[in-house]
Amino acid sequence: MLSQEILDKLNNQIDVEFYSSNLYLQMASWCEAQNYTGASKFLMEHADEEMEHMRRIFKYINDTGSQAIIPQLEQPPFSYESLQHVFKEIYKHECYVTSTINELVATTTAADDYSTLNFLQWYVAEQHEEEHLFMGIVNRMAMVEGSRTGLLMIDKELSASADTRASGTR
Ligand SMILES: [Fe+2]
Repeated sequence: MLSQEILDKLNNQIDVEFYSSNLYLQMASWCEAQNYTGASKFLMEHADEEMEHMRRIFKYINDTGSQAIIPQLEQPPFSYESLQHVFKEIYKHECYVTSTINELVATTTAADDYSTLNFLQWYVAEQHEEEHLFMGIVNRMAMVEGSRTGLLMIDKELSASADTRASGTR
């Protein structure tokens, strides 16, 4: 049985993961409109992954006999200055998600809730991967700063990366 404090924080994490999915979906739409079709495909795939993150928590809460609550979602921003801006915002957002997971880990540790602590380990590892992935993309974009050809090359790489992730071989 989950304590009320941990249940509230897990439900808040449903909100965070759901919002992440919508944010990436919205960004995918912006990329598509700017003809960055690889980045759009990559972000669509990533939006699906965030829904999976949400569903894991949803299932965990219900498996403990508590109730998952679907939040009212905030509208994500839909206008960006450049492709670099999009990915810098994603990196910043993923660092925020990491902080929410860390807070959950600290709360479950203090409450001796070892089951939830164990459940959260997957998210700790996932956030490390997410930060690493997006930091890498931001850094590669910085390397080609100002070059349209360079950005289109990265867009192509993102398309290939989306195919790999979708086939489950990442
Ligand atoms: Fe996530």
